[in-house]
Amino acid sequence: MIYLDNSATTPVYPEVLKMLTDVTEQCYGNPSSLHHLGVKAERLVEQARKVVAEALDSTPQEVLFTSGGTEANNMAIRGIVEQYQGRGQHIITTMVEHPSVFEVFTYLEKKGFRVTYLPVDKVGRIHLHDLKKAMTDETILVSVMHVNNEVGTVQPIEEIGVMLEQYPKALFHVDAVQSYGKIPLSVRKAKIDALSLSAHKLHGPKGIGALYLRKQVTIKPLIIGGGQESGMRSGTQNVPGIAGLAKATILAIEGQARRMNQFQQWKDRFIKEVVDKLDHVMVNGDQTPVGGAPYIINLSFPGMKSEVLVHALEQEHVLVSSKSACSSKNEKSSRVLSAMGLSNEAATSSIRVSMGYQTEEQDIMDCAYALARVVPNLQQVMKVRRK
Ligand SMILES: Cc1ncc(COP(=O)(O)O)c(C=O)c1O
Repeated sequence: MIYLDNSATTPVYPEVLKMLTDVTEQCYGNPSSLHHLGVKAERLVEQARKVVAEALDSTPQEVLFTSGGTEANNMAIRGIVEQYQGRGQHIITTMVEHPSVFEVFTYLEKKGFRVTYLPVDKVGRIHLHDLKKAMTDETILVSVMHVNNEVGTVQPIEEIGVMLEQYPKALFHVDAVQSYGKIPLSVRKAKIDALSLSAHKLHGPKGIGALYLRKQVTIKPLIIGGGQESGMRSGTQNVPGIAGLAKATILAIEGQARRMNQFQQWKDRFIKEVVDKLDHVMVNGDQTPVGGAPYIINLSFPGMKSEVLVHALEQEHVLVSSKSACSSKNEKSSRVLSAMGLSNEAATSSIRVSMGYQTEEQDIMDCAYALARVVPNLQQVMKVRRK
């Protein structure tokens, strides 16, 4: 089996699995307990906080552990809006965010906040002049993702952060779930106030993530209780998960540049093979090395259905996805591809091929060869059916 659905989730590194079992077995104390087992657990949590802080170019006090990316996004957006709503009622995001951001904005819109959804160009990128135009004295939050989960397009986060310095009332949140540990991003350089990440996208465990929250920013907590995580996120910490996230971060960052170069070469070869062998294939998103994540490829085969393609590839033992995993069971066309201006036919016929650190060049090329077998067969079947 060839697994190429790493943007949905990744297999854990063996070292992370060992860390999970070791910590679960040997370090089961509650980090809030006063005895030595509690102290040992607390020490592990604090070591992990340091690792994540370093990866983001922040400080350990600014890292709060959560149950994953969805919680971090909800916590940042709802927490900031509730805390600062006295300053203004206008918030900004983009048309291509993950549902864990987008749906929070639609929820807040229903609650009476004025929301601007920034448009994107044909590769899925927002433009600074649109953001500038949308900013008002009432804007309290701007939320823009780093790497898009469906097409891999990279947003100009540093430029946005620097531009937003002119608007001291507006806080800047970044969903970095698809880029953390893969594409470097300094929260200091990019002037970010809040940033979400998740471990299971980088070969860490599921159900653990973090929110970076700049020291000077306060939020209304979503979860109230024992006051863990500086009172911002109550609940006994998931110590094995937190240690696993730190281990995955260290492993992801080691050799990061080399791996990204490799992915880019394989992506280029894959696209060349598919485009050479198949007619009417569309490659979606930005294919330049800085404009698109090298580990995400999105293709459309107008006239076909994404689901049919995904199942046909599975017959060939290749696992990919249609849209993002969270919405792939939903029949509607991709909101992201529609926002990029793709026709309904193109937006309902896309598949995403995404690489992880276990991927080999042969895997990605085998996927291209499988597509070259499967697509003409399906086209033939469709022709016969139409007659
Ligand atoms: C861009 C993006 N944000 C947020 C999430 C949600 O993260 P989690 O699965 O950890 O809740 C995902 C997961 O697919 C994602 O791709």
